Amino acid sequence: MDRNLALECTRVTEAAAIACSKWIGRGDGKSADKAAVDAMRRAFNSLRINGTVVIGEGERDEAPMLYIGEKVGCGDENSPRVDIALDPLECTDSTAFGKNNALAVIAIAQEGCFLHAPDTYMEKIAVGPQARGVIDLEATPKENLKEIAKAHKCEISELMVVILERERHKDLIDKVRSAGAKVRLISDGDVSGAISTAVDGTGIHVMMGSGGAPEGVLAAAALRCTGGDFRGRLIFRREDEKERALKMGITDLNKIYTLEELAQGDVMFAATGVTSGDMLKGVRIYGKTLQTSSIVMRSKTGTIRYIDATHHLDKLL
Ligand code: FBP
Repeated sequence: MDRNLALECTRVTEAAAIACSKWIGRGDGKSADKAAVDAMRRAFNSLRINGTVVIGEGERDEAPMLYIGEKVGCGDENSPRVDIALDPLECTDSTAFGKNNALAVIAIAQEGCFLHAPDTYMEKIAVGPQARGVIDLEATPKENLKEIAKAHKCEISELMVVILERERHKDLIDKVRSAGAKVRLISDGDVSGAISTAVDGTGIHVMMGSGGAPEGVLAAAALRCTGGDFRGRLIFRREDEKERALKMGITDLNKIYTLEELAQGDVMFAATGVTSGDMLKGVRIYGKTLQTSSIVMRSKTGTIRYIDATHHLDKLL
């Protein structure tokens, strides 16, 4: 894949972030999401790819746009055939209620490189490059923290663990704290949480807990680029979720997925902040201009770029 495609992906996430930014704090998640989806779909038309959405807004019958299986891009027969994992607005509620960590995000890889994850929960653990190879979903939180601290050459008490603030995580939070580590609770956004383990300066070492499985694939794509690590296991709450997974080609419902099994090959990842978080600033308005902050990375080289852009409101297409 042409390396410039990674930079082009930023235009797509910027467009989605800008479009939904006018809904920040207005209590209307649906409109925010629609604005992001419409803008992202339009922006794909300028990408010279033959893309297929594999992680998207849902099945064809439930999502009008960017549904699983939808073809995007304006490529010809010479353009790369790629699979796309996307979330035009990760953290709809954070946007609606003006909270942190909302992102517009896409990941691209060659065909067949992303797990076609069903829309279920996934148990997850994510770390940055220093702790690559030491995490284990079968181990207890304490055992994982011990290994992660060893990899970071620090004490468990120095580790910061990001966990979604949910009732289901009460026991996990207690276990992490009683092992001696610190907990940063986030109201939403475990894609951003997982990536921040691998980004210098966030002070976050681990992400633990369950969240959306599609978000797990997006996080894994980003961690492939940063050299971090991830393990995920699908969680099924109902029989119909299992049936859906089997239909999507999952054969072992209890499998623990490695980073490479979720996102393999040559992966590109781009995200633009909608609301500010540990990793990126959100969209800011200054008079007649808008500023966006994005991160873009490639697994081939491990290059991580931060792109701050100024957009002129009267010239936006
Ligand atoms: P949305 O983009 O669907 O709003 O997801 C936000 C999010 O916090 C994800 O980051 C996370 O994976 C998931 O929701 C967790 O689900 P739940 O809110 O049901 O615990």
